[in-house]
Amino acid sequence: PYIKKLFGLNDLEKELENKLQLKKVIIIPGDVDHDPLVKKEIGKATAYLMRQYIEENDIVALTGGSTIAEVAEMMPEFPHLHSVLFVPARGGIGENHEYLANTLVSTMAKKTGGSYRLLHIPDQLSEEAYHSLMNEEYVQEILSVIRSARMVVHGVGQAKIMGIRRRMPTEVMQLLEKKKAVGEAFGYYFDQEGDIVYKMKTIGLTLDDLAHIPYIIAVAGGKNKARAILSVLRHNIKQMLVTDEGAAREILNLL
Ligand code: BG6
Repeated sequence: PYIKKLFGLNDLEKELENKLQLKKVIIIPGDVDHDPLVKKEIGKATAYLMRQYIEENDIVALTGGSTIAEVAEMMPEFPHLHSVLFVPARGGIGENHEYLANTLVSTMAKKTGGSYRLLHIPDQLSEEAYHSLMNEEYVQEILSVIRSARMVVHGVGQAKIMGIRRRMPTEVMQLLEKKKAVGEAFGYYFDQEGDIVYKMKTIGLTLDDLAHIPYIIAVAGGKNKARAILSVLRHNIKQMLVTDEGAAREILNLL
């Protein structure tokens, strides 16, 4: 709190809450683009925020990524977290093992003393595979668990960087460029107005499902991610944001 006052970050948090109509904004001093320690601090602040809202027997859904990985590392062990079930928000969307949502739910469960369920779905499904998987009993059952999450904690990516990281085919990369995709979350790609320009075919939470989830926390920092964060927030994926000073100041510049 002292550090934040020193940097005027409390005012910045309020300003962003008002301008973006968010329930809560937390800003960590610094910029992850220049200092990897800032990502750890973002992780710690998010873990603390989650603990404030999680209740016994809650289901918490997570996406993958290096930022949520820091959140998982920072989760404390608390008695009321023992009954929490952690689940991946969506099936495989092309990510390295250490950043997969499946990996992060197991880390978080281990740290908190809670439990976890996995979603074994391959990356990028064909239309046919998607429909036949959707008819599987296993998929129906885990999907209903995921949809009953009371909290979802998700990362935000820059469209182009996520496309490369996911080794998307050239046609898709060209489409993202043509449609001016800037941000990505949950496998959906958004332009700067917050309109969806591309979505990956996988199973799990859809953006429509988010409307029924009481706590949604977006976690992303770095000046370079400001446009991406804004595109996702503009698509009404609003609620709470944990970010850093670099991204926060740039978002305000863009508004
Ligand atoms: C991926 C998620 O695992 O991580 C994406 O599937 C998200 O939805 C991305 O945008 C964010 O990654 P990072 O490493 O920038 O936090």
